[in-house]
Amino acid sequence: MPVSIAVFASGTGSNARRIMQHFQHSDAVQVRLVVSNKADAGVLEIARDMGVETLVINRTEFYHSETIVEELRRRDIRFIALAGFLWLIPEYLVQAFPRAIVNIHPALLPKFGGKGMYGAHVHEAVKQAGETESGITIHYVDEHYDEGQPVFQARCPVLPTDTATDIARRVLELEHRHFPLVIEQLLLNLPVVG
Ligand code: GRF
Repeated sequence: MPVSIAVFASGTGSNARRIMQHFQHSDAVQVRLVVSNKADAGVLEIARDMGVETLVINRTEFYHSETIVEELRRRDIRFIALAGFLWLIPEYLVQAFPRAIVNIHPALLPKFGGKGMYGAHVHEAVKQAGETESGITIHYVDEHYDEGQPVFQARCPVLPTDTATDIARRVLELEHRHFPLVIEQLLLNLPVVG
């Protein structure tokens, strides 16, 4: 029996797509559910096209009940990948899935993380700070934004002529290359090398 996992995403879902594609024919891992807080998120359409079940959640339920845990347990989900999911994960959910929730952040944490540091804001901040490199951080999730234990980082150069969009493109490539592999390695208890 494959391990069932869920992907949580709020946006376009390019990482979620890569994850679903990566495990499409896997005997070991199955993406069983895609969860989004936005009914019109692109990721939901991608999931439907790939035959993966979807669930849209609302804020009140997410923060004031624990229904999501029941939804996940009912599908025997053992692991959650946050792929561009913008809501803070509540403590009850962190506790229900100890060391079984990971997030991908488009910078080298602990720099350029925390509330408000998402999407283009991150890459603008990297550029403003005159950094010569950026990258990705995959980390376990706790109840604070971007503070859980890092699992994996990959780096890319930032050139003086780069715009924030250039940096974003380079970082997204790293995300697509590494995130599915890191998830697989964590689930199979392999050394995490990306
Ligand atoms: C990624 O850059 C990820 O690091 C961040 O949100 C973005 C999601 O992009 N957490 P996509 O929706 O997977 O294309």
